[in-house]
Amino acid sequence: MDKKTSSPFIFEEVKTPIGKKTMIDNENTFLLANTKPSSNLHLPFPKDYKFESCFLSTSFEDFANDYRTFKVRSDDVWILGYPKSGTTWTLNIVSQLKNGFDFSKEPLAIYTGLFLERFTVNPEDGYKDLELLNKAPSPRVIQSHLPPHLLPVELWTVRPKIIYMARNPKDVAVSFFHMSRDALKYYSGTIEEQFDIFLENRSLYAPLHAHILAYWQLRNLDHLLFLNYEEQLADRFAAVKKIAKFLECTYGEEELKELMEYTSIENMRKLYTKPMNGFQFFRKGKAGGFVDEMSEEYIKKFDEWTAENLKYSDFKFAI
Ligand code: A3P
Repeated sequence: MDKKTSSPFIFEEVKTPIGKKTMIDNENTFLLANTKPSSNLHLPFPKDYKFESCFLSTSFEDFANDYRTFKVRSDDVWILGYPKSGTTWTLNIVSQLKNGFDFSKEPLAIYTGLFLERFTVNPEDGYKDLELLNKAPSPRVIQSHLPPHLLPVELWTVRPKIIYMARNPKDVAVSFFHMSRDALKYYSGTIEEQFDIFLENRSLYAPLHAHILAYWQLRNLDHLLFLNYEEQLADRFAAVKKIAKFLECTYGEEELKELMEYTSIENMRKLYTKPMNGFQFFRKGKAGGFVDEMSEEYIKKFDEWTAENLKYSDFKFAI
């Protein structure tokens, strides 16, 4: 069998001017990545589940199979979510729970934790990162933004603990704009252009709703915990307790209260001393902060986009 017929993937080149704006500096090109239906049989989804193609850098093609065959350990914890959904917050909670409390510790932020697919920003780093992941001592806490069908197969056979974070698309889009323009410096357009990129499903890892809905489908798996950013923010202590219980950690209420305080955004900001390009990663940390930066017109567009994409689902955003 030649390489193409035996490949589990389908890649489609994206030729759209909007992509150019998405990553200006390294002149990245983009593709849509999917898997062949026959390659999804290991996944805990109905056989006819239709996975959407995921908008990624062209360099994904070079690493896709390495990610798919990545060795998962049963004591790993995987933190998943669309970018800017609060994954780093949960990563900081989980890292403390799994590795013993050290509340003086600098919080993990962008690219300082174990991140499966660093290629999205810097393709050259991809392999180095996998080596880092492979060599990391257990228990590993690993972040990824990939949808389920593009993740390591062993996630569904070895069944480590997985936490998925969902956040409302309007706050995600605003947060994404600041991160890509001010921290990563790969976006130079306006905020409205960034919103259009989202609405056209041309932001990295798009489509956003399909991402959330795929994991929503898995919410009853006993090794997966589905969390909402807004709920987590509304009751931070309940969230910390829920995560600790899911991870079968036996800390007392006092310790968990301390963990809640340590992972408050105010404390994270205080301890975070190495901002990338001067960008405060622990930015607003609000539910509904989008109102300060999104016009009525775009709020309406986003709400219609969400209503359309959730019309056959019982999943609802808190705001
Ligand atoms: P904002 O940019 O809206 O402030 P991710 O880690 O998935 O990239 O998500 C980043 C978002 O989570 C940012 O949102 C960031 O401020 C927020 N965040 C990070 N740590 C947080 C915390 N401890 N409490 C609340 N929000 C937090």
